[in-house]
Amino acid sequence: MKHLLSLESTTGEEIEALLESAEELKHKRWAKDLSDNDLEDQCWALMFSKSSTRTRVSFEVGIRELGGSVMFLSSNQSQLGRGEPIEDTARVMGRMVHGAVIRTFAQSDVEQFAELSGIPTINALTDDEHPCQILADLLTMRERLGGWEGRKVVFFGDGDCNVAKSWMWAAVRLGFELVITAPEAFMPSEDYKKSLGGDGLVQFVADAKAAAKDADVLYTDVWVSMGKEEESADRLDVFKPYQINDEIVQCAKSNALVMHCLPAYREKEITEKVLEANADTIFQQAENRLHAQKAVLKAVVAG
Ligand code: CP
Ligand code: NVA
Repeated sequence: MKHLLSLESTTGEEIEALLESAEELKHKRWAKDLSDNDLEDQCWALMFSKSSTRTRVSFEVGIRELGGSVMFLSSNQSQLGRGEPIEDTARVMGRMVHGAVIRTFAQSDVEQFAELSGIPTINALTDDEHPCQILADLLTMRERLGGWEGRKVVFFGDGDCNVAKSWMWAAVRLGFELVITAPEAFMPSEDYKKSLGGDGLVQFVADAKAAAKDADVLYTDVWVSMGKEEESADRLDVFKPYQINDEIVQCAKSNALVMHCLPAYREKEITEKVLEANADTIFQQAENRLHAQKAVLKAVVAG
């Protein structure tokens, strides 16, 4: 694969292959085998217009571990922040670096960059998708539950956000049941729902407790995504029934996983108690960002 722009544009076979590779890379790293040098003599750019801890650190470490070097460009330190168009930025970067990892607002910016730069391009989060996060989450599901076959994943919170949407495409591409539980105003549009296809694998349910029934995975994300800060006050009220707390956990299967992409806002989308009781899984997801993204880097470099 030349790029990772979204899970919508990724096949189920490609996702499975990335996860196989991620698992292998993880075992090798634990065995202190860092012999994969796919990025040797390459210089990669991380171009971020939004904050990040996990994504930035895991990509910086991953690129170095694969033998490459990396530069970090935040939008306010580059001409992008002063209005230089993505089309020009892409044509400059494509002449100098070997690949780009981009965190930004519009999905179209990542897609245009990939097209015009001619270099491997990875979506590190846009308003539409967060494919790298969901790859790490799927790796965690494989490790903890043996996979997703026959499993029910329930996403709580903003059903129209990037993380929810990448989950929707993962469910459709891999064939597992996903329930999105969110206030009506924070569900994706009817057109978007139709575009998923997937024979009803993705369900949209307003009642959080009903959605949680018999779940194998309870998953949440922040209620206020980056770029939506001015809506904070309104969102905090309307999302309250979608908090993952003891009552919701009781509705799920007794051994259900509770997952969170982080950063977490305690007592908002998840209680402190539930988060800490599930910290092993949640920080395993965070660690898996590194392994999953090394697999993505290897795949896009191979073309
Ligand atoms: N989950 C995630 O993408 O975290 P960061 O925003 O810290 O990169
Ligand atoms: N939906 C969140 C994900 C953060 C990792 C956001 O876009 O801010």
